[in-house]
Amino acid sequence: MSESIIVPTGTKPQRYTSLLAQVESLVEHEDDFVANVANIMAALKQVMGFFWVGCYFVKGNELVLGPFQGPVACTRIREGKGVCGTAWMKNTTIIVPDVELFPGHIACSSESKSEIVIPIRDSQNVVIGVLDVDSEFLNHFDIDDQNGLERIVKIIERCNTKNK
Ligand code: SME
Repeated sequence: MSESIIVPTGTKPQRYTSLLAQVESLVEHEDDFVANVANIMAALKQVMGFFWVGCYFVKGNELVLGPFQGPVACTRIREGKGVCGTAWMKNTTIIVPDVELFPGHIACSSESKSEIVIPIRDSQNVVIGVLDVDSEFLNHFDIDDQNGLERIVKIIERCNTKNK
């Protein structure tokens, strides 16, 4: 396994395609879930250059901060609270073009302007966590990001199954 990441040029879909291939090979020979998620977050940050990328995992009635890249962040989010807790409660991807217009948005950093949150599920379709990506630009996330990041989440879900 190669531990270095190539930062590709090209269109956003092309960069996601390169990222996904590199992430697949990064986790191929490792079974530890935390190690794999930590490296996936680093690869995502390196290749796409987002302001903040990270996972929160369900513990009881809260999401608790997991592996991330970027500035320090809030450690606990209750179900139904903020974008992350809402994506968990509704079991759906949420794109927020302007965080100030999302009722109850939790501001971990004043620099974060837009956000996408994708649920991470187990084999029974139960939410076990979320992938949260923040941008310092308004209206940063589109359908290409949703498609690319949902494919990243599928790899995280596979890593979770492999770890059992
Ligand atoms: N903004 C998120 C909180 C997590 S931070 O962005 C890292 C929310 O509203 O759930």
